[in-house]
Amino acid sequence: MIDRLTVDKILDAANIVDVVSDFVTLKRAGANLKGLCPFHDDRTPSFMVSPSKNICKCFACGKGGTPVHFIMEHEQLTYPEALRYLAKKYHIEVQERELTDEEKVQQSERESLFVVNEWANEWFQRQMNETVDGRAVGLAYFRQRGFRDDIIKRFQLGFCPDKYDAQWQAAKAEGFNEDFILKTGLCIRNEAGKTYDRFRNRVIFPIHTLSGKVVGFGGRVLDSRTKGVNIKYQNSPENAIYSKRRELYGLFFAKKAIVKEDLCYLVEGYTDVMAMHQMGVENVVASSGTALTNEQIRAIHRFTENIVVIYDGDAAGIKASQRGIDMLLAEGMSVRLLLLPDGDDPDSFARKHTATEYQDYLKEHQVDFIRFKTDLLLNEAQGDPIKLSRLVNNIVESLAVIPDEITRTFYIKETSQMLSLSEGIITKAVSKQRQRMREERQRERERQRPNGPSTESPTPDPSSQKEEEASVVSASGNDNLPSQGDSEGAFSEALGGASPSLMGEAGGGPAKSGSLVLQTEALLVQMIVRHGEKVMCEVPDGDGEQRPLKVVEFVQYALAQDDLELHDPLHRQILDEALQHYNEEGFRCDRYFENHPDLAVANLANELAHDSETLSRIHEKGIPIKPEEERLMELLPHLIADYKLALVDDEVKTLMQQMRDPAVLADKAAYIRLIQRYQELKQVQGELGRLRGDRVFA
Ligand code: CTP
Ligand code: MN
Repeated sequence: MIDRLTVDKILDAANIVDVVSDFVTLKRAGANLKGLCPFHDDRTPSFMVSPSKNICKCFACGKGGTPVHFIMEHEQLTYPEALRYLAKKYHIEVQERELTDEEKVQQSERESLFVVNEWANEWFQRQMNETVDGRAVGLAYFRQRGFRDDIIKRFQLGFCPDKYDAQWQAAKAEGFNEDFILKTGLCIRNEAGKTYDRFRNRVIFPIHTLSGKVVGFGGRVLDSRTKGVNIKYQNSPENAIYSKRRELYGLFFAKKAIVKEDLCYLVEGYTDVMAMHQMGVENVVASSGTALTNEQIRAIHRFTENIVVIYDGDAAGIKASQRGIDMLLAEGMSVRLLLLPDGDDPDSFARKHTATEYQDYLKEHQVDFIRFKTDLLLNEAQGDPIKLSRLVNNIVESLAVIPDEITRTFYIKETSQMLSLSEGIITKAVSKQRQRMREERQRERERQRPNGPSTESPTPDPSSQKEEEASVVSASGNDNLPSQGDSEGAFSEALGGASPSLMGEAGGGPAKSGSLVLQTEALLVQMIVRHGEKVMCEVPDGDGEQRPLKVVEFVQYALAQDDLELHDPLHRQILDEALQHYNEEGFRCDRYFENHPDLAVANLANELAHDSETLSRIHEKGIPIKPEEERLMELLPHLIADYKLALVDDEVKTLMQQMRDPAVLADKAAYIRLIQRYQELKQVQGELGRLRGDRVFA
């Protein structure tokens, strides 16, 4: 029992962002934060956290609540257990009265198993570090394999002595219920009723939950016995807290680094994880030698979408893991693969290289799954057409499971380039394969239906249909674009106002010196310096009267229409000051700016006012030599359109770059935003281009 005062202290201390962040990567979303929901298979962030209300909630599955609720749900704890968890996190001392023996028995089985494991974990470490045998055999083994003491300590490695039932005796002496000791699997009772230690004479790797509690152990025989009939690794058996399918070795030690690097390496074994930590690579987990499960993939996906699978270069192993790759792809992850040379695994490879060499190798040798498969299989096919077509089918199968249409399309493109096949052929093959998958799912469902297969004609799979529809909408995107309606007529058109809004990343973005944007911007400012206060045309005012429109006003309107700001600070200053003064009696922009007290402004104004290059260029284009001030109505809309086009081109270029970035590619939401923006910009480009075309110099 925890007393009320302590409960209040815990509730006050528990911060929802802090608590949730231990398990979910959160990104800002306005006043709130959001991330992938840990309670269901979430592929788009639906989990919202409100710092001000100190609560969280998933909008898809509805789970969430206070920090205590979150921990109860996430760690599968009771209310008092969750409170204790939070107390520990916030270093709050829990005032608790001793439990009676009866209450001890009544504690939940799960909690009891954790308690026994926690004790056993300490005990294994003490055996290794504090006994003569432990040091001579266990610790010596790890050191001899090249593991540093800090790594041995970080992973809480231990040793179980070579005695029949040393741990059993110690656990009983500690007062643990025999039943629970047996349920953890640490000790085994045989048919004769004798009880012995499962892990005797093995070195011990504790396996941690996401929050760092010990759910089970792996025990490795020492080298001297490896050649015998003994199984190399013994693991804790499945029980109320340990399920091999669910756990990923090393995730507890990796989660912070995974988030930081936005990348997770996947290796096979315990020692591989440790070796990579020793090489300074901490974003690594192990599937522990078994096929990857969806539970494990989801556990990784909560922290990142990017995974690099590391292979110890034997082809059989790689083929066996094919399914794992397809499962990762189907889960919407971005998958890269890395082959280690000459049958090395991450552990043996570590012993031959420095940390820098190691990290460089990882960075330089990871390739996306298409390239990896193609290289591997092309090599094998050696031009044999049948093998080649098998290779294409193999890749098509992987492409078909990718849930996101845009990503899929991107990879299809890459495949077609790598294999010199037409995109159309691959697209068709992928569609066929997806159709086959849908039919398969449909059959599966019918098989599972209690009253057997239905005799009706098969209905389309609603879930996959929905998925297809959703991605079609997001890919074409036009439905989401702001409406094009524009009723302001000629004036608006003259302004070169581009709808939909230009105000994307371009608005107020960083100025790129020497870029086309800055060059065209300078031409606009040149017009302000030379002609800012001059009337360029008449426009209707609110009362149906005509009023004169001056150059600087026009520029101001044209920019405001798309929420734009000039990029260069000097340019902005000139526009601002021109706007302040243009209505003053006798004000002339050229005089004002050329004599500006700020030397930088004055120098620029002089340069722009007397720049003959632009003048001569206009000559060269065969433009009639009318004085500039008589052609303002032609020149300015043209310049505005040029400027806006330059902004759009610039942003399109940036977008194209971003769209090639695998990190962006992996983030479906981000990618769709880019595509939509891209389409908007393309539309704007077209409109501006037409506008410009309409206004060729007369
Ligand atoms: N494994 C297991 N049970 C087995 C064999 C393997 O759980 N009987 C898991 C372990 O997590 C092991 C991983 O599969 O770490 C990879 O197996 P293996 O490559 O054989 O072992 P290594 O990790 O390379 O261990 P070592 O280098 O000590 O031989
Ligand atoms: Mn190994």
